Amino acid sequence: MTSMFDEIRKDNARVVIFDTTLRDGEQSPGCSMNLEEKLKMAEILETMGVDVIEAGFPVASPGDFEAVNEIAKRAEKSVIAGLCRAVQKDIDAVVAAIKPAKRQRIHTFISTSPLHMKYKLQKEPHEVLEAIAWSVGYARKHCDDVEWSAEDGSRTELDFLCRAVETAINAGATTINIPDTVGYVVPSEYGALIKSLVDRVPNIGKAILSVHCHNDLGLAVANSLAGIEAGARQIECTINGIGERAGNAALEEVVMALRTRADRIPFTNRIDTTKITGASRTLAAITGMPVQHNKAIVGANAFAHESGIHQDGMLKNAQTYEIMTPESVGLNKSNLVLGKHSGRHAFKKKLEDLGYTLSDTDLDDAFARFKIVADRKKEIFDEDLVALVDDEAAHAHDNIKLITMSVWSSTKGPQRATLTLEIDGQQKSAEVDGNGAIDALFKAIAEIIPHPEAKLSLFNIQAITGGTDAQAEVTVRLEEDGKTVNGQGTDTDTLVASTRAYIHALNKLLVKRKKNRPEDITTTKNRIQSI
Ligand code: KIV
Ligand code: ZN
Repeated sequence: MTSMFDEIRKDNARVVIFDTTLRDGEQSPGCSMNLEEKLKMAEILETMGVDVIEAGFPVASPGDFEAVNEIAKRAEKSVIAGLCRAVQKDIDAVVAAIKPAKRQRIHTFISTSPLHMKYKLQKEPHEVLEAIAWSVGYARKHCDDVEWSAEDGSRTELDFLCRAVETAINAGATTINIPDTVGYVVPSEYGALIKSLVDRVPNIGKAILSVHCHNDLGLAVANSLAGIEAGARQIECTINGIGERAGNAALEEVVMALRTRADRIPFTNRIDTTKITGASRTLAAITGMPVQHNKAIVGANAFAHESGIHQDGMLKNAQTYEIMTPESVGLNKSNLVLGKHSGRHAFKKKLEDLGYTLSDTDLDDAFARFKIVADRKKEIFDEDLVALVDDEAAHAHDNIKLITMSVWSSTKGPQRATLTLEIDGQQKSAEVDGNGAIDALFKAIAEIIPHPEAKLSLFNIQAITGGTDAQAEVTVRLEEDGKTVNGQGTDTDTLVASTRAYIHALNKLLVKRKKNRPEDITTTKNRIQSI
């Protein structure tokens, strides 16, 4: 297989899309994903044509290792990268985790700015240069594709950065990444920095230059594009721009800017842009990190035209107010598609149009759920179907399931909830008063499965479509021991959706507990068995 380096050398207009949703994105607060969720995202990224998937930081935890390893086993075309510091145990963990991948990359990094070297690393510059030479050399012994990153590169003294880059390339790095780790630079400055490296580093022709920009000043995408114009040929980015603090450059924005303004920024990439909306929606549903409505490309309003003047212009010629079509990002207008009389065949066909291929059993489950929703809701939109299928998939592995619930609610409190759950096949019920219906429901869950150390840190309700019969999509975040999990639930009844979301989060919390505190396995099991 041709290496990424050879591909770029053959075609100087080609830009490598390196997605770090599962590493830089996943490590940001509230964005943690479990194994199934990471596998699902990795599959989507590969299908949409991402060149390099940074699958995680294997040394960070056994869960991170397993996720990178499982993604590596499944990947067909994308290069699978794992991140590591400049230390042997980190590099060894990446080597082992990415081993099954057909195309592998080791991504090693160390800080190069005066501030980071002095305070974070407590190393002299010459020690950092030695660490670069050693780590890249060691990684190259195991893999032909090695990326080296200068953490806080944009705040590094230029002379030292040039020496560090030269050292990394001499040691065998095939990609050199210059992160704007703290999102500090402005486009002209970052472009000039990349250009200086192209002009001054004698062996720069032996590596691909890469940009990795954070969005603290809202400039991540602009900086990335400035870097490409100055000679970089790899962009590191994430779906929905998730990532540390204000996030990373958003993949969908970078790719659509390259596509829409190819006249000014004439570079190509392999991304199938029609997969963008699906990827964005799936990630938002998995993480519970909603996309702001006015977000470029994937926000709910990105293609909405509200004002009369704009609507009039659109009707006459869409180009009056639209610089790209909704279809180009995979957004199909909300059509009325199916109703309660629709059959399994039409349902299957519609799901295929929406990009879902389900096994027969999953299709049966989704169809049964569709019939329930169709009975309650007059109009079934594409968004309803997407939510329904995503919800089924999210809950497929739950050990704790909601069987029934009912709520007594009035202007005079307290409100009362009765709830029955199935835990590993056994049914348990509780009846509890609360300060509001949601409070009563969540307390009832806690009565059946006590989890006093977990705190509810987010409770978010969104209507999927318009109308009072719209399905509600609820996200619940639970925190315990500094770890967070998100749960999702969808239903036409907001209270049912909320309960499903809470139970989903609790399922994930118990799985996480087992992984992080193996000594708790018995405690958790006993607790559940003794209910
Ligand atoms: O922002 C950063 O500096 C990083 C590196 C570890 C690549 O994410
Ligand atoms: Zn970063």
